This record gives sequence, structure tokens and C-alpha cells, in this order.
Amino acid sequence: MRGPGRLALLLLAAAAARVGTVPVPPWTEDCRKSTYPPSGPTYRGPIPWYTINLDLPPYKRWHEVMVDKAPAIKLMVKSIKDLVNAFVPSGKIVQIVDQKLPELLGHLPEPFGEEIKGIAAVAGLPLGEIISYNIFYEVFSLCTSIVTEDKEGHLLHARNMDFGLFLGWNRNNTWTVTEQLKPLTVNLDFQRNSKTVFKATGFAGYLGMFTGFQPGRFSLTLNERFALSGGFLGIIEWILGKRDAAWVGFISRSVLENATSYEEAKNILTKTKLVAPAYFILGGSRSGEGCVITRDRKESLDVNELSPKEGKWYVAETNYDRWRHPLFIDDRRTPTQMCLNRTTQEHISFATLYDVLSTKPVLNKLTVFTTLMDVLKGRYESFLRDCPDPCFGW
Ligand SMILES: *[C@@H]1O[C@H](CO)[C@@H](O)[C@H](O)[C@H]1NC(C)=O
Ligand SMILES: *[C@@H]1O[C@H](CO)[C@@H](O)[C@H](O)[C@H]1NC(C)=O
Ligand SMILES: *[C@@H]1O[C@H](CO)[C@@H](O)[C@H](O)[C@H]1NC(C)=O
Repeated sequence: MRGPGRLALLLLAAAAARVGTVPVPPWTEDCRKSTYPPSGPTYRGPIPWYTINLDLPPYKRWHEVMVDKAPAIKLMVKSIKDLVNAFVPSGKIVQIVDQKLPELLGHLPEPFGEEIKGIAAVAGLPLGEIISYNIFYEVFSLCTSIVTEDKEGHLLHARNMDFGLFLGWNRNNTWTVTEQLKPLTVNLDFQRNSKTVFKATGFAGYLGMFTGFQPGRFSLTLNERFALSGGFLGIIEWILGKRDAAWVGFISRSVLENATSYEEAKNILTKTKLVAPAYFILGGSRSGEGCVITRDRKESLDVNELSPKEGKWYVAETNYDRWRHPLFIDDRRTPTQMCLNRTTQEHISFATLYDVLSTKPVLNKLTVFTTLMDVLKGRYESFLRDCPDPCFGW
């Protein structure tokens, strides 16, 4: 079996060993209806907003967020350390993180190095741990992203952020890391001259941006693309000194901050060399502007675009190449498509997209938040999620 499938099976085997029993597929529930505005047991609550002032020096930008979130970050960093030490008991890895990673800080592109220093200072954590915390997010996410176009050519972009695969199942039937991420989830309004440049939903202390939009211009989400030879290798190469590739979370932050159009964003995301493979899901402001870019580390393998004239009124991506079948035990693609097909183009809206993203297993134990974006109207909404039992691991 090829890389990604093998990795997923490995993860499943490990998860099964931890959990004891794994429900047998298929377990897709009926497409949900009337779940919006969010309420009830699948809605954990709102996500707090913070303003990030880009006119401040990078070192100072995250002060307010960190004052509020430092205790939660410390808990998370401790869980990561415990996990690493459980796998490699000598303590060597944690020692390397504390001692060696800070030397690499100068090699991060601006503004990331200075922002990390500021975050570590306020959190009172060693620099190396904040760096590894930032590396950590490059590797463990599963997600669902959708861009739709209605009959009038109006675009919407929606996503579920699923995170924490394989990172520990606790006695309450939730993934420890997924649970610890919920209090760290923040909505961010990045401003220059007191005006919004872009909005994003992320995790306090993490500088990459996987979910966001520039009002009036474009929306962007990033989904993990698994390839054993990809992510880890690229990160190790980077640590060892081959630094011509961009971190995926950082490139999407840069695009959200500095690209000035859908076309420019698409061009950068298609061409920049990356440390890890990824899917970039990009939406614009005009009819036909929506695509899923399937990225290898070096190049783009596929750009799957909306084609409203041919009746292709949505693109959807989970964590599998569109020319391959999703892994049998992790098929979130079929239910996503099925529920979108049933919704029909006539009825697409924030409410019906939220319904699709609330249908198990598109909603699952790893889902941290759901985001809805309307670029043209400047509407941006994010909600913390829960998936009470019965609910599968992802
Ligand atoms: C399980 O939930 C209870 C109450 O909701 C909480 O007090 C406890 O800390 C949780 N246990 C774990 C392992 O998360
Ligand atoms: C955006 O562009 C400005 C001006 O060139 C630069 O200083 C900044 O570092 C860039 N931001 C990111 C996140 O790359
Ligand atoms: C959804 O509709 C599209 C276009 O008609 C079709 O290709 C696809 O197979 C459908 N998917 C599901 C799961 O119903």
C-alpha cells in the first residue's frame, strides 16, 4: 500500500489498541437539518475575538492573547511533552527541543521569529517549546473544507477543523489534545491602521493560519495531506539546514496578510516550495473563483476548480487526493458530497453549510471548530464544536 494509506492504517491500529473497540463502518448519519444558528449538544460555544495590531513590532503583537491563554498553552505543551516521553522515554527529545531548537529561530522568516520570542516571553515558556508547539501543528490535522457558488454566482466557504489524531484518548471518550485545543481557539482580527486586513481562526501561540479570509477578496483554508515521505522529512530537512521551503502554516498566514487578490493568492499557493504536502482550499469573490490546490512539497499536482457553467457548483476536500478513494474507515468525502447534493445549489447558505458540517462523521470526535465565510459580504463566523456519543473517533 502507498504511503498515505499505510500511515492511516498505522494510526488506526494504534488508535484501536488504545480504544479497545472501534465501531464498524459505515456510520454516516442522515444529513442534518436546521442546526443553525448553533445550539444544543454539538455546539460548545462562541470563540473569543482578539485584535492583532500589525503596526506593532512583531514581538509585542500577541501580548493580550498570551496573557489570557498562557495557562492553557502550558497545559498543552505539557501534554505534548508527556506524549513524546511516552514514545521515547529517555527524555532526549525534550532535551533537544529545549536546547537545540532556539538556535533555529534566526532562520525563520520575518515576522515569525520575533513573534515567537514575544509569545515565549509572555507565556514564560522556553523558546524551544514554543517552536516545537508551532512545528506540531504542521502534522496532526484532519479537516473538511467546502467552497460553494449559488445560482447568483455568490461564493461561500466553510470548514471543519479536526485536530488531534492519535494524540491520546481519555477516559471521557474524547481526544485529550482536541479537548485542550478548545480553550486555545481564538478568532483573530489582524489590523493595519485600525482597519481589518484579514480575519482568521487559530490556536493561541500558533502563528500559522489554517482558516481565514480577506474581506472582499478571498478566503483560504488549509487541510493536511498525508504522505509519510512528506511532512516529517521536510521538517527534518529544515531543521538540519535545508531551508528553501516554506512552512505550510506560515505561507498561508503570509498569503492572508499580504496577497492582494484571489489570483495572486492562487499563484503563490501553487508555486511556493513547501516543507510538507497540503491541500489549499481557496475561494474568491466572483463566479468561478474557487479551487482545491493539491500540493506536493515541490509542486502543485492538481488544481480542481469550480465550473458553475458545467453545473459544478462546489468543490469539497477532506484529506485525500480526489483521484484516490478516501480510506474506508475515514470517508468524510462521500457524506459531505451527499449532503451538499441533497441541499442543492438553490438552498446553499450559512445555515445549510453548517448542517453539512454537523453531520457525522463530517462532524466527529476530533472536530474543534466550524467556520463559515462570506467574502463579498464580509461575514465571518466560527463556532466551537462537540460531538457527544455516539460519535466516532474522526
Ligand atoms: C472527565 O469529565 C469529568 C467531568 O466532566 C472531569 O472532571 C474529568 O477531569 C474528565 N476526565 C478526563 C480524563 O478528562
Ligand atoms: C507582509 O509584508 C510585510 C511588508 O513587506 C512584511 O514586513 C511582513 O513580514 C509580511 N508578513 C508575512 C506574514 O509574511
Ligand atoms: C454528488 O453529485 C455529483 C454531481 O452530480 C456526483 O458526481 C457525485 O457522485 C454525487 N456524490 C454523492 C455522494 O452523491
